Amino acid sequence: MEVTGSRDALRGVCEEARRKDLTVGFVPTMGFLHSGHLSLARRTREECDFAVMSIFVNPLQFGPNDDLASYPHHLGRDSGLAEEAGMDLLFTPDEAEMYPHGRPEVTVDPGPLGDRLEGASRPGHFRGVCTVVAKLFTLVGPCRAYFGEKDAQQLAVIRRMAGDLDMPVDVIGCPTVREPDGLAMSSRNVYLSEDERAAALSLSRALFEAVELAAAGERDAGALRARMVARVEAEPLATLDYVAVVDDRTFEDVDRLLGPTRALIAARVGRARLIDNALLSGED
Ligand code: PAJ
Repeated sequence: MEVTGSRDALRGVCEEARRKDLTVGFVPTMGFLHSGHLSLARRTREECDFAVMSIFVNPLQFGPNDDLASYPHHLGRDSGLAEEAGMDLLFTPDEAEMYPHGRPEVTVDPGPLGDRLEGASRPGHFRGVCTVVAKLFTLVGPCRAYFGEKDAQQLAVIRRMAGDLDMPVDVIGCPTVREPDGLAMSSRNVYLSEDERAAALSLSRALFEAVELAAAGERDAGALRARMVARVEAEPLATLDYVAVVDDRTFEDVDRLLGPTRALIAARVGRARLIDNALLSGED
């Protein structure tokens, strides 16, 4: 596996791969890799000829009260894991390389979806995500790019960006990888103490309960929301941010489950702000 921090090298190597008629697959990450990231890497390895991963903790997508300064990192370990997962190229730029002229003045507007849910709780977050992902897509060039459903709203915003701006990138969503007890894997789980980790299970449990209720025929989104809120609020170490039940295509709130519907939860547990979501079986 080749490792580079240079944008020119990334662009050149990807162009070279396409000249040889290889399909380029791309997995953007912020590092501190876990099985969720690695599932995207393995899928890329399986489906593409030339597999690229990036590791960059993008300051643009962190707000003043977010955890940019303490975001976990371990590049040595990550690079071993990326190599084991079969990556051909690992792109690890520093901030000066990604933003040589300082923070960009021209940025990508994530549209109305960027203002809701995560966007409402973290103003500017999706503008930062879209801007860095657009830069990465420009550098990597035409490719298949793999994103996790764990960040379902991010996946939806990026899919929309690639479509609306005619980016030559196939955006592919991959299922959420969970710990055996249901906790969604996240780099931020390292912030959790043992008690907090137990409390964090209230998110996935609330979602699984909603999935079961929907499968059993519950069509009232308000009833499902109320059950999830009660579940998380029963956990003293968890502070609920939002619970939402949305149309899976538009991410608009729904009153009834008539088509594909997704439930989403965000909560703070100790120092960690956690998000999780699940598709509710909303098809009649
Ligand atoms: P990061 O949080 O490192 O996640 C990188 C990719 O891994 C994202 O597509 C995310 O959805 C996916 N992922 C994280 N946890 C997962 C899990 N448990 N199961 C499946 N996939 C999972 O998301 C970002 O970085 C950044 O916003 C980024 C897109 C790199 C832009 O900076």
